[in-house]
Amino acid sequence: MIGGERFGDQLTRIIAIANQKGGVGKTTTAVNLGAAIAERNAAVLIVDMDPQGNASSGLGVVNRDHINTVYDVLVRGLTVSRAVLAPNGHSKLHLLPSNRDLVGAEVELVGVRDRETILRDALAPIAAEVEYIIIDCPPSLGLLTINTLAAADSVLIPIQCEYYALEGLSQLLGTIKLVQRNLNPHLTLEGVLLTMYDRRLSLARQVAAEAKRFFGNAVFRTVIPRNVSLAEAPGFGQPVSRYNRSSPGARRYAALAGEVMSASVSPATTGAMPG
Ligand SMILES: Nc1ncnc2c1ncn2[C@@H]1O[C@H](COP(=O)(O)OP(=O)(O)OP(=O)(O)O)[C@@H](O)[C@H]1O
Ligand SMILES: [Mg+2]
Repeated sequence: MIGGERFGDQLTRIIAIANQKGGVGKTTTAVNLGAAIAERNAAVLIVDMDPQGNASSGLGVVNRDHINTVYDVLVRGLTVSRAVLAPNGHSKLHLLPSNRDLVGAEVELVGVRDRETILRDALAPIAAEVEYIIIDCPPSLGLLTINTLAAADSVLIPIQCEYYALEGLSQLLGTIKLVQRNLNPHLTLEGVLLTMYDRRLSLARQVAAEAKRFFGNAVFRTVIPRNVSLAEAPGFGQPVSRYNRSSPGARRYAALAGEVMSASVSPATTGAMPG
C-alpha cells in the first residue's frame, strides 16, 4: 500500500521525464520535482525506469541487488505495491526502484503481447493512492521509454542549455506522436524545462531563445540554473530540498513544482523541429 490515503475522484497525474539525449537533467528533475511536490503535501511516487538506477541511488537506495524493482513488475508481473519503497524520512514520497536487471527487460519482453502497455497496466491499481507519479526515463527511445509514454498523461522534456540542445528533439517528438496515435491518445506535453542554465553565457541565452521560438508557452517560466548543490545531493542520497534547502537549485525546483501543480496541461506540440 502506498501512503494509505485514497484520492477518490481526484485525478492522478502521471508525468514522464523524457529525452533520449544523455545527461540533460532527467533524473535530477524527476527526483527534485518529485520531492518538491511531496513537500507541498501531495503524495508522490517516483518510478525509476532507467537500468542505471540513478533516481534510486539519488534517493538513498544504494544496495539494490536483492530488492524488488520495476524489472520484477514488468517481467515477472509483481504488483507495484510490493516493490514500492518509502525513502528515509519522507512521508509523502515513494519510489519504485530499479537496478541493472532492467537492462534485460527489453529483450525478455520481445514477443510478449501488449508489451508497450505493461507499465500502464501495472500502475493502474496504485494510481488512486497517489496524486503524482513521476517517471524517470533512460536516455533512449526503446521499450522502456515507450512503456513510460504509454502510461503517462504528459511528458516533461528537460533540455540542457548547451550546444546541440535541440538536436534529436524531432526524433523524441516523433516518438511522442507515434505513441499518441497508437497507444495513448491523451498524452500531452507538460512542458519543456531549461536545465543547467548559466545566464553569463550567451550560448545558454541563445538556446533558451531558440527553445521559446519552437515551443512558445510550453517552455516553463522556471529555469534550472547550474548549481553545485544539485550535483552533490545525489551523493548523499537526498533530494536537494533536504541536502541544501536554501540553494538556488532547491528554490528553482520548488518553483517548478508550483508551476506544474497549478498548470493545466497543453496539447502536445509535435510539429516540425530542428533535426
Ligand atoms: N542544474 C544542475 N546543476 C548542476 N549539475 C547538474 C544539474 N542538473 C544535473 N546536473 C548533473 O549533471 C549530470 C547529469 O544529470 P542527470 O543525471 O540528471 O541527467 P540525465 O538526463 O538523467 O542523464 P542520463 O541520460 O544518463 O539518465 C549529473 O551528474 C547531475 O548531478
Ligand atoms: Mg538519468
